Amino acid sequence: MVTDTVHVHAADRIDRVAPELFGHFAEHLGRCIYDGVWVGEDANVAHDAGLRAETVSLLAELDPPVLRWPGGCFADNYHWEDGVGPRAERPTRRNLFWTQGPENEPIESNEFGTDEFLRFCEAVGAEPYLAANVGSGTPEDAARWMEYCNVESGPEHAELRREHGREEPWGVRWWGVGNEAWGCGGNYDAASYAQAFARYATFLSAFGRVVEPGRPVDLVGVGHYYPEWNREFLEVLDDRGVTGFLDHLSFHWYHQVGDAVEFSDEEYYRLFADADRIGDAIDEVAATIDLVTDATPGEDVGVIVDEWGAWHPEANGDDGLEQRNTVRDALTAAGVLDRFVERADVVTMANIAQTVNVLQCVVETDAERAWPTPTYRVFDLYRPHAGATALAATVETDARELDDDTDVPCVSASVSRGDDGGVYATVANRDLDGPRTVRVAGLDGVEAAFAEVLFDGQGAREHSRAANADAFAADDLAVDVERDGVVLELPASSVAGVTVA
Ligand code: AHR
Repeated sequence: MVTDTVHVHAADRIDRVAPELFGHFAEHLGRCIYDGVWVGEDANVAHDAGLRAETVSLLAELDPPVLRWPGGCFADNYHWEDGVGPRAERPTRRNLFWTQGPENEPIESNEFGTDEFLRFCEAVGAEPYLAANVGSGTPEDAARWMEYCNVESGPEHAELRREHGREEPWGVRWWGVGNEAWGCGGNYDAASYAQAFARYATFLSAFGRVVEPGRPVDLVGVGHYYPEWNREFLEVLDDRGVTGFLDHLSFHWYHQVGDAVEFSDEEYYRLFADADRIGDAIDEVAATIDLVTDATPGEDVGVIVDEWGAWHPEANGDDGLEQRNTVRDALTAAGVLDRFVERADVVTMANIAQTVNVLQCVVETDAERAWPTPTYRVFDLYRPHAGATALAATVETDARELDDDTDVPCVSASVSRGDDGGVYATVANRDLDGPRTVRVAGLDGVEAAFAEVLFDGQGAREHSRAANADAFAADDLAVDVERDGVVLELPASSVAGVTVA
């Protein structure tokens, strides 16, 4: 018996799903960069000129569209010129915010700098997204960084890049103007940060706002999920007539309910409720942008969520923000990605925190090995949405009622149509108690369908380790094809992707 229905409104096309919605974030924190990504050229583990080979190959398989670096809070404590040139000559600095590396010390060796990061991006196939230092840097430093990365030749920093062995410009499109400017990025108020943003943007714009002919540089301003911050920031830009500098406004979204692994059933469902609220937060940011900039014709500011994910109590700064990664986490990621796809018309990028070993990472490593987390599998399952056209869909499902009367839908879904005309739907069953039979309806003339499912029989509290990582891989799932839809039986705490032709 069908228990839930995903009604696809096939004629209601939302927008193209920017591939960047499936982006990642990596910071100089814990074992994310040092150990997770960078093991150095003298390492005993397999590496490609210092980059951990297994991390590179796992990420390359995932095809990440974009990778944000070097922070996070670290970005506003980072001086890029420390991290270029011969490694033996680079200075060692204090990491003011985090302990990091296998020794877990607040020390930044600068072994991994701009060229290493950009080479890593090339190796995994991701576009780089650099966060410039606003809190303790200068607009001049930021502009020189852009020159180093993007200008073909002469006279100063482009030449420096060439001396360091890279003839071609790196062509970095995405530039963040600071990070969490209201907190670790300098404790600005919104109006002062708007002044700082305009100042930085003035000098970054000196490079013509193009990476190469026809390809723009995108500047990202620091926003908040507090509407007041966004309104004030935008109003100052608007009053000065410089909203045109701002291409995207970002905010961060972390969720935490109960322990990473020993959570109650109530906490299991509440994490979905908290994660799903990101949809309302995006709507609110977009509404504020519209309110302030609508009077300015031609201004189009996208919404970026450049840090998001589960942050469990066991992840604390002294231990490099490491936490166990469970099936529950992966299912919340599925819900968040659904909220992004539903809002493909406003969300221009999102970056889960943080790529390797830290918070809701997609890859974990120990001394010698690297393996994918359950969340990695969800990102892999959602790949067909990237670049497709999001279709409106409504989900008719039961809800689990929490102690404070919050209703948590048992099924979450999102739907898109690819360039070949086929439809792709991702459907999660969050029900802890058993399978649900879900019809995806409203599709005309269905001829064939193929589905895969994640986490069949694993249980929400299962977490990834080197020894069990393969068990989280996708299995084939039976699909009943109907004239105008398909029916899937989804096991408890699972998520499926179904391709319909
Ligand atoms: O991702 C960890 C930290 O969380 C980042 O450094 C900061 O931007 C956020 O508060």
